[in-house]
Amino acid sequence: MKRILSGMQPTSQLHLGNYLGALKNWVNFQEDKEAERLYCVVDLHAITQPYEPETLAKATREIAAAYMAAGIDPKKSTIFVQSHVPQHSQLMWLLSTMAQMGKLERMTQFKDKAGKNAERAGLGLFAYPVLMAADILIYKATHVPVGEDQKQHLELARDLASTFNTRYGVDLFPQPEPVIAGPAPRVMSLRDGSKKMSKSDESDMSRINLIDDADTIAKKIKKAKTDPEALPDNLKALDGRPEALNLITLYAALADQSKESVLTQFAGKQFSEFKPAFIDLAVTRLSPITARMNELLSDPAQIDASLREGGEKARDIAAPVLQETMKIMGFMP
Ligand code: TYM
Repeated sequence: MKRILSGMQPTSQLHLGNYLGALKNWVNFQEDKEAERLYCVVDLHAITQPYEPETLAKATREIAAAYMAAGIDPKKSTIFVQSHVPQHSQLMWLLSTMAQMGKLERMTQFKDKAGKNAERAGLGLFAYPVLMAADILIYKATHVPVGEDQKQHLELARDLASTFNTRYGVDLFPQPEPVIAGPAPRVMSLRDGSKKMSKSDESDMSRINLIDDADTIAKKIKKAKTDPEALPDNLKALDGRPEALNLITLYAALADQSKESVLTQFAGKQFSEFKPAFIDLAVTRLSPITARMNELLSDPAQIDASLREGGEKARDIAAPVLQETMKIMGFMP
């Protein structure tokens, strides 16, 4: 059976990269009768970098609301909070005994986040990918829909699954498949086409957040970096024009069109003509999500109830897997 699992950190508001790189693709799995779906809000990951305890619970609820507003139906998918299922952290410890420091040191996300001060980075930040592997393996998940930046973390999860199976001579954990198939698996910053759109970018103008209102979206798109050339009629001609390619990719993803057909529509046009159309499209596609999110957030008790129910379902799957893992490892029953 297919079991899909993915998650997002409640570090701040979701942006267009999270939506088009991952979340929109999650919605595509919704009607897959062969699959079971689990989507968590990974609050334990969110504390690996400086954060405000006063806002963690609120941010967690907001991410859950964003999942639902984007179209994840809690009746069809299990939506839950990572810290509500203690088996994630328990399995993480077991897996950490098999995770090689050398491999963790090579993780580009760790290098980016730790920056020049790697010596001072917390153990949690270093071990982040092991917890992520536990998130996946505790459900024996087979498919993990994520953006391109998570590919290396997924490789580690696959590696840990096979290391465990080989070390203990069992076939316990399946190899989780990365599904990097969102309409825009690598969304770039609006200010710099060589940088990923990211929550941690200092400039809010670099990203479109799912809660941005129409005026803010318009302002950000108007200010988005472009080049002086007109738009070409083919994709190849966008080589070396990263900002233009990013905007075309975003337009295509939001319009559910191919990049080629967007270029056919705008061939020969300047950005001064393209941008107003892009603003209209972005506002039309994002405002219903924002509105639904705000509606959901007006009744936090309902979200919490839904997350509690999701947590119960998740624990029902996770508990026997942890038990089986510990039995294989020889722990006293
Ligand atoms: P997070 O919260 O940083 O990102 C959530 C998802 O959004 C995708 N994403 C992007 N996709 C395209 N372009 C971008 N600029 C962009 N920025 C972010 C990410 O690839 C991700 O899919 N480590 C995970 C969270 C996690 C997880 C898991 C995921 C923890 N445990 C288990 C899957 C399975 C992360 O980076 O979240």
